[in-house]
Amino acid sequence: MKKILITGCAGFIGFHISQLFLEKNFKVIGVDNLNNYYDVKLKNKRLSILIRNKNFSFKKLDINNSVKLKKIFSQKIYAVLHFAAQAGVRYSIDNPYSYFSSNLLGFCNILQIAKYYKVKKFIFASSSSIYGEKNTLPFNENISDQDNPIQLYAATKRSNEIIARSYFNLFKMNIIGLRFFTVYGNFGRPDMAIFKFTKNIISEKKIEVYNYGRHFRDFTHIEDVKNAVFKIFKKSKDSSNGRYEIINVGSGRPVNLNTIIQILEKSIGKKAKIKYIKKQIGDVKGTFSDVKKLKKKFGFSQQISIKEGLENFVSWYKQNYKI
Ligand SMILES: NC(=O)c1ccc[n+]([C@@H]2O[C@H](COP(=O)([O-])OP(=O)(O)OC[C@H]3O[C@@H](n4cnc5c(N)ncnc54)[C@H](O)[C@@H]3O)[C@@H](O)[C@H]2O)c1
Repeated sequence: MKKILITGCAGFIGFHISQLFLEKNFKVIGVDNLNNYYDVKLKNKRLSILIRNKNFSFKKLDINNSVKLKKIFSQKIYAVLHFAAQAGVRYSIDNPYSYFSSNLLGFCNILQIAKYYKVKKFIFASSSSIYGEKNTLPFNENISDQDNPIQLYAATKRSNEIIARSYFNLFKMNIIGLRFFTVYGNFGRPDMAIFKFTKNIISEKKIEVYNYGRHFRDFTHIEDVKNAVFKIFKKSKDSSNGRYEIINVGSGRPVNLNTIIQILEKSIGKKAKIKYIKKQIGDVKGTFSDVKKLKKKFGFSQQISIKEGLENFVSWYKQNYKI
């Protein structure tokens, strides 16, 4: 049984990808520092599900802790799926140190240790935010203007891509960066719009809608993300010459925020109380993923429509929070 290290395993995406690899008969070692950026109870709940599987083991640690990480890597790790990071766009404006520590130092630390222990594949989470505000839609992986981040979060993710590329150039590592586009679904992040809207519509509180609802996002359901990540993992051969690849993981179907609210209202059976607010600094108007590469090279196609995905999310939310 191959051993996979998944960082950020108690987080939204790391949890789902850990479940996926366990289902596919890998041994998964999960690490996470369980920080309190959002409700730790949700992280513990995800963990409590993972640890039911005998092929899963968990170590609470920070990815900057080289000593503990080296102990894990010495157990012969086949591949690393690196999701631990300080996420969030707006939070990065007032809390830069968290991004310096986890997204820059932590990233370099884990990459360096992975190189030292010669892991066969290093797959990490980048972000659609690297495309910034000015690029033409849909966002293609080879777009020329990739270095104009409009906030620190995007800058750290783009830095990860560039640093990883130097490790490929120097050490012939097999590295893949996944540019995720607004991932949503059950066990999702409480700081993201779909979670906040659902919670507040259900409890009849106001929702704050930025940019007067004109934002559009390439919302990608977590089941589609799982499917894409596994196809990429399976199809990417670990060549001795190494590889470096950046792949958009999106749906290719952007949806306007007002449409999201309308679907949620129908699915919940309540009207939203909306407070429209101007566009916030650091926010982009829209994201739209060019998914040609994901489709052609990895045979991916979106399975979950936004309507189905939001209805599933509302039922998960009601069940999980006993409403
Ligand atoms: N969710 C999205 O829509 C989205 C979009 C683009 C990119 N991403 C990226 O995907 C990855 C996963 O995102 P997510 O939505 O699951 O976020 P998340 O916050 O739910 O998960 C991240 C996990 O990493 C852990 N973590 C953070 N810093 C750490 C550190 N220094 N050491 C150990 N653990 C640490 C956190 O405790 C958390 O459980 C992140 O890299 C994020 O930037 C997510």
